[in-house]
Amino acid sequence: MGGRRLAVIGAGYVGLTVAACFAHLGHRVRCIECDGAKALSLARGRVPVAEPGLEALWRRHLADGSLSVCQRAEEGLPGAEVVFLCVGTPPAPGGEADLSQVWQAAEDVARALPAGARPVVAIKSTVPPGTARRLQETLRCLRPDLGLAVASNPEFLREGCALADFLRPTRIVIGADDEEAAAVLEELYRPLGAPVVRCRPDSAELAKYACNAFLAARISFVNEMAELAEAVGADVTEVAAVMGLDPRIGPAYLEAGLGWGGSCLPKDLRALLALARHHDVPVPLLEGVARTNTRQVARLLERLAGLVGPLSGKRFCLWGLAFKPGCDDTRDSPAMALGRALQEAGAEVWAYDPLAWAPDFVVHRDPYRAAEGAEALVLATAWPELSAVDWGRLRSLVRRPLVLDARNGLDGEAARRAGFVYLAVGRSPAGEPATAPVEG
Ligand SMILES: NC(=O)c1ccc[n+]([C@@H]2O[C@H](COP(=O)([O-])OP(=O)(O)OC[C@H]3O[C@@H](n4cnc5c(N)ncnc54)[C@H](O)[C@@H]3O)[C@@H](O)[C@H]2O)c1
Repeated sequence: MGGRRLAVIGAGYVGLTVAACFAHLGHRVRCIECDGAKALSLARGRVPVAEPGLEALWRRHLADGSLSVCQRAEEGLPGAEVVFLCVGTPPAPGGEADLSQVWQAAEDVARALPAGARPVVAIKSTVPPGTARRLQETLRCLRPDLGLAVASNPEFLREGCALADFLRPTRIVIGADDEEAAAVLEELYRPLGAPVVRCRPDSAELAKYACNAFLAARISFVNEMAELAEAVGADVTEVAAVMGLDPRIGPAYLEAGLGWGGSCLPKDLRALLALARHHDVPVPLLEGVARTNTRQVARLLERLAGLVGPLSGKRFCLWGLAFKPGCDDTRDSPAMALGRALQEAGAEVWAYDPLAWAPDFVVHRDPYRAAEGAEALVLATAWPELSAVDWGRLRSLVRRPLVLDARNGLDGEAARRAGFVYLAVGRSPAGEPATAPVEG
């Protein structure tokens, strides 16, 4: 078997994808996962996340022997030429990235590498600028006998299309001071044919945060346009279409709705704000991006209360729990925030999601069952199958024919034809200005 010997520490979305894809590219990969139950399930070929194609790829390479999983670094690290750190970096209480998993992994690396080992340690986790340099120093102190080189190699994959994103990346970022380490990483990624940006480790680390903050900013921007569109009688989807056709702007991340969420954008923006505070750098634009996002759930609740009166004691149907369609991840999901806010207001929540589950709510796998007795239906995650629901059938199930399309993902005309009051985000039904134009 050819290829390099690689180790991947941490088997979350990123680690699993990195491990399976490098095995697919012909390398021999050992995946180290400290959670015993997870490691056992992975060794049996069961992948604990709903990521299209990942389990099949994982099983294929377990079977051909190019991929294996273990729980202890001592088993997985010896012989590795490159070690990818793919551990979690959740937010600490102050918003900054909690790097305890990174430092634990560093101790594991220092403890488990045999004498004479010289692997490249590549940080794939999203970490604040300075972390790669600190890791380099830490490893040098712990194991002065080894010639370890640390590089920052941030990952840009998206959940729901992780394999395609990894195997057809838009760019590979390699932040390394050590020329040899950078060359080893560049060679690993060469078959993917993507442009490679070689830079300082700190630039690579900041660039990852900058990308996520910019994506969040686009969504917050279009959500502000949505509120203005509602006020003046415009349609934000038409506004976004015009913006998106400008090549300087592009169409991605211009969907108005309940706001951004998930395991990355919220925590990374919080970490960036904490970084700015730490360095005393004013970032009013970034602060606004976060504030506007928080407003979206509150705005929807206000709209609901304006339509049905007090929310307490009423049942609402929440279509969607995952932070976006195509995955089962509910971390920092706006849909979950809305569900919890409804419960805090005394309402009962029946939810539908084809993949995600949450112990907080009554969750159905059938959108019609979740709609029974509902005071209003709310689309909180734009699952594509919901664009073709049977509105006639729903009409006979709900208590009140009211739908709030918080993702602009439903067939509003069909809903109206079936007798529903249909309201979307940033799209006033009449096309009439809701307020008199401002002159002067
Ligand atoms: N999820 C995404 O879409 C995505 C995309 C790009 C970047 N990232 C970044 O990549 C990193 C990982 O994200 P994730 O979603 O895969 O995280 P995750 O929390 O789902 O997975 C991390 C895994 O690492 C394991 N782990 C922690 N310490 C370990 C150790 N010392 N030894 C072995 N295993 C250990 C944990 O048990 C867990 O299974 C984060 O920094 C994240 O911000 C995530």
